[in-house]
Amino acid sequence: MSASPTNPARAERSPCCGASASTATAAPAPASACCGDPTPNAETGACCSAPSASCGCRQGAEQERGATAGATGGRLPVAVIGAGPVGLAAAVQLVAKGETPLVLEAGDAVGASIREWAHVRLFSPWRYVVDPTARQMLEASGWTMPDEDALPTGGELLERLVEPLAALPGIAPHVRLGHRVLAVTRRGYDKVKTAGRDETPFELVVRTPAGRTERILARAVIDASGTWRSPNPMGAGGVAAEGEAEAAARVRYGIPDVFGRDRARYAGKRVLVVGSGHSAFNALLDLAGLKREAPGTEIVWAIRRAEVGLMFGGGRKDALEARGALGERLRRLVESGTVRLELGVRIARVASTAAGIVAESDSGARLAPVDEIVVATGFRPDLSLTRELRLALDPWLEAPQQLAPLVDPNLHSCGTVYPHGAAELAHPEKDYYVVGMKSYGRAPTFLLLTGYEQVRSVVCALVGDEAGARNVELVLPETGVCQTDLGGSSCCGAADDAGASCGTAATTPAAERRELAVVGAEACCA
Ligand SMILES: Cc1cc2nc3c(=O)[nH]c(=O)nc-3n(C[C@H](O)[C@H](O)[C@H](O)COP(=O)(O)OP(=O)(O)OC[C@H]3O[C@@H](n4cnc5c(N)ncnc54)[C@H](O)[C@@H]3O)c2cc1C
Ligand SMILES: NC(=O)c1ccc[n+]([C@@H]2O[C@H](COP(=O)([O-])OP(=O)(O)OC[C@H]3O[C@@H](n4cnc5c(N)ncnc54)[C@H](OP(=O)(O)O)[C@@H]3O)[C@@H](O)[C@H]2O)c1
Repeated sequence: MSASPTNPARAERSPCCGASASTATAAPAPASACCGDPTPNAETGACCSAPSASCGCRQGAEQERGATAGATGGRLPVAVIGAGPVGLAAAVQLVAKGETPLVLEAGDAVGASIREWAHVRLFSPWRYVVDPTARQMLEASGWTMPDEDALPTGGELLERLVEPLAALPGIAPHVRLGHRVLAVTRRGYDKVKTAGRDETPFELVVRTPAGRTERILARAVIDASGTWRSPNPMGAGGVAAEGEAEAAARVRYGIPDVFGRDRARYAGKRVLVVGSGHSAFNALLDLAGLKREAPGTEIVWAIRRAEVGLMFGGGRKDALEARGALGERLRRLVESGTVRLELGVRIARVASTAAGIVAESDSGARLAPVDEIVVATGFRPDLSLTRELRLALDPWLEAPQQLAPLVDPNLHSCGTVYPHGAAELAHPEKDYYVVGMKSYGRAPTFLLLTGYEQVRSVVCALVGDEAGARNVELVLPETGVCQTDLGGSSCCGAADDAGASCGTAATTPAAERRELAVVGAEACCA
């Protein structure tokens, strides 16, 4: 088992299962005072919250476990939240280690979030989107690897990887579709209770396809639920702009399918795109393609930053050619006037007028009226599920505290991060891990390769293979530009001058990595 980060201050606060825990062991409390009830027994003061023989309730506890969905041979499963590529890779790792996963997927098909961007082409070629262990398992079943250099669309990723993986005989019995996890807690423990907490199973409150609420016990939880369902709003301050909800019929979050189902909505229209990441790049490039077919289409792009800086990325220096090309193509569209770029627009309110929707900056400046707005301002993790768990999250990125400095775009964002695993992903809540897209919280640049190495390490930690958990190895393709932006300045100078690499990130020893994380911007282009 992985050790959860120790917090001496918290340990001292354990009111019961320090000295009095031994009382509980020596003098079993009546069953009513234990078996999942963390309250100290009124007569003996014993605190025996984890069901065990010493509670005098072993039989009941075992019956309960046996009745738990997914339990095999009395051992609880490891719950995996989400059947996206990373959740399924976690299931593969668990099965490979002889563990029983229970994958709970909210959608009525695996990869439900990717289905919503199935029309988008990835910038990572196949060689970078297939987990090596999953590949072995798939190939043993007769699957063949697609052309390693080809770039799949989201739809192809589903068809060629996610669906075949979920259909493997070793994985399929462990996947439950239409099961949305509403909350995760420790059985009978709210966030405050300490004594016996680490030995108490997790309880997941799940809405089933029949609309009922089911409670599922698990010995550990791997949260791979992504961030797709929680897009950032248009309001520059991180809360919805005034009038954003009222304008909902004309506002779309993400990347519209302008050559497919959304064509009529955008062809020949005045469209405003808000945001400055790859989603905005894709939306703008697609709209420019649509404009060639429907010349009346007008495209305005509003970004918060006052200067373009390194926004367009590393171009030909990007180790992912297609990622570098996105920025280059968009730069040319801006230079040619196909896309009208508005800098320093921090949207505070939107108003529907007879002329169209008008977005207004916090300075009071107004953009010209448009017919549609595409909001591509990134995503944030949904933290409501885990309100009752003890999480150590970075205050602004909402990523695990140890991981955050390695991915913080304020400090260091070279499109790569130091290899990391269970140690960086751990929380005070033992055996609970967030992996995949959600692990980065609000930080950009997550890559599938990162997620696959995360789950390999986490599963090692869960099965007690400490060496395997620590031995994290990963070399990520860098963007070719050190995209640090402190107050509008870059630590690397202009994109063209930036080194192709931000240091030997992937091979930097752990001690040095910490140092880099602390010094932040100065170290970014060392
Ligand atoms: C448009 C786009 C393009 C991308 N391109 C690339 C690329 O080229 N290369 C790359 O490496 N990465 C890329 N990424 C980033 C990232 O790799 C993907 O977002 C990837 O899908 C993340 O996988 P995941 O398994 O972590 O999350 P997801 O794929 O988002 O899967 C999460 C799953 O959890 C389910 N879920 C959510 N909430 C619950 C709940 N409460 N209960 C149960 N189930 C739940 C969802 O339905 C979903 O199926 C891209 C991302 C986007 C948005
Ligand atoms: N393969 C592909 O082609 C592809 C396509 C889409 C996405 N992706 C991946 O998916 C992930 C998410 O990408 P994303 O582009 O959706 O999100 P993102 O990378 O987080 O970028 C969104 C950007 O929008 C800006 N922003 C945030 N709030 C804003 C607001 N209210 N108003 C104006 N601007 C705002 C921020 O930049 P500032 O702070 O500078 O304003 C932020 O970096 C990334 O990992 C990305 O690589 C890949």
